[in-house]
Amino acid sequence: MEPTSFVLFGATGDLAKRKIYPALYNLFVDRKLPPSFSLIGLGRRELSDESFRANVELSIRQFSRRGADNLSLIKPFLQAFRYSVLDISRKEDYKKLLQMIERREEELGISSNRLFYLSVGPEFFETIAANIQESGLGSPNGWKRLVIEKPFGHDLQSARDLNRKLSKAFTEQEIYRIDHYLGKPMVQKLEALQQNPVLNALWTNHYIANVQITANETVGVEERAGYYDQAGAVRDMFQNHMLQMLMMVASHIPNNSDSEMVRFKKKLVMEALEPLQKETVKASVIRGQYKEGMLQGKPAAGYRSEPGIDSASMNDTFIAAKLHIDDFFWRGVPFYIRTGKRMKEKSTRIVFEFKEPSITSQGSADADGKSPNLLVFEISPNEGITLQVNTRESQHKGDFKPIRIDFHESRNDVPEAYENLIYDALNGDPTFFAHWDEVELSWKWVQPILEAFEENLVPLYLYEAGSYGPAESDALLAKDGYHWWFDA
Ligand code: BG6
Repeated sequence: MEPTSFVLFGATGDLAKRKIYPALYNLFVDRKLPPSFSLIGLGRRELSDESFRANVELSIRQFSRRGADNLSLIKPFLQAFRYSVLDISRKEDYKKLLQMIERREEELGISSNRLFYLSVGPEFFETIAANIQESGLGSPNGWKRLVIEKPFGHDLQSARDLNRKLSKAFTEQEIYRIDHYLGKPMVQKLEALQQNPVLNALWTNHYIANVQITANETVGVEERAGYYDQAGAVRDMFQNHMLQMLMMVASHIPNNSDSEMVRFKKKLVMEALEPLQKETVKASVIRGQYKEGMLQGKPAAGYRSEPGIDSASMNDTFIAAKLHIDDFFWRGVPFYIRTGKRMKEKSTRIVFEFKEPSITSQGSADADGKSPNLLVFEISPNEGITLQVNTRESQHKGDFKPIRIDFHESRNDVPEAYENLIYDALNGDPTFFAHWDEVELSWKWVQPILEAFEENLVPLYLYEAGSYGPAESDALLAKDGYHWWFDA
């Protein structure tokens, strides 16, 4: 791995504290950081290097999976950390930063490879990118990379505008757009699993009746009312995480593919997704919002009573949709996708429901009492794969009983999404970052939903906090003879 200066904008922010520092420490413990690594944290607040390091140490103690039992390496790790004040819009600050980075590069005797990580609100992306370019920070002898987080735009037009502006300072190859779902180990495993000949043979409309992708959360809007009430589940989760999981599971990626091929195959999925029309969105999309209810034994407030939320808000905290991919592999197979806040349990999973040759009414148990075979990818909070197959019980001839073939990973061994992604960004591997083509096609596909919601062409169904969403979400599948799996 090449020597790197990691330039972190938003170094005193929440994301840095919860995700970035713990991920970097885990990588350090696993010897996965470059041998010459320098981190320069930037923020608005005055802070000495010592206080900065003390804050980083605290966050590692609190949030790193290695932090609790392995702090012996914390001192050498923190040696790489420096802090500087930076006002995002002040050009002189970027000049000072350049001098500081050059000094560090000289001290360490390293060539100038610079990774700029923008852990700040998207409204600052453009200004920062332009200032990096103008100040000379963006013209190192080595490589430069820009890492940014979602949200990438608010709709199709704003995403295009933002991309146009960023591309004045960075090429597509230099931009690493984080969608942290692509960093989740099980989502990454989907690439290899679908190349496995055993599974690959089944991964088509010959055998699969439907695919279900669920990302349920128990948390509500938390302290993010200002952002969330404008974004809703459709922008916060669906346009990015849910469609990325769809691309990962539905693309047919050939063996030994490089990053270009992986992203090309994902793009094909988006291109084959049957477009929606604003006027008819309501036939295949369910919009929901949580009302008060009981969640894990405790009363939970409704969305409209949450602090900072408009008491007449029509914002979506739940969305379920039925999609069709019109290609050779998936024609005729419905993909059901749902995500919601304040649901009964936290669970992210993908379920393949297999066709049953003897089943007459699709998907439901047949006369023998057999229920369909399932292949289940558990993404979080547990990681695992389950194959549920029907077999005949030896003692009671005639009775079918599903047995489960299980693989589950122990929590502590699983690297976190940010670990995987930061490692890849340092290595220059863009496979699990969202390419602009994917982002643009996702916004394009979602745009009629945004407009239909905006114009209230889709009813807003209220669901109880602590439930599995509105009954209409169940009805969406029931119409086709299916149901959501694993709703208790
Ligand atoms: C974020 C959303 O991108 O993903 C949050 O903005 C959501 O609203 C979070 O809670 C869910 O991530 P995870 O990894 O906990 O499933």
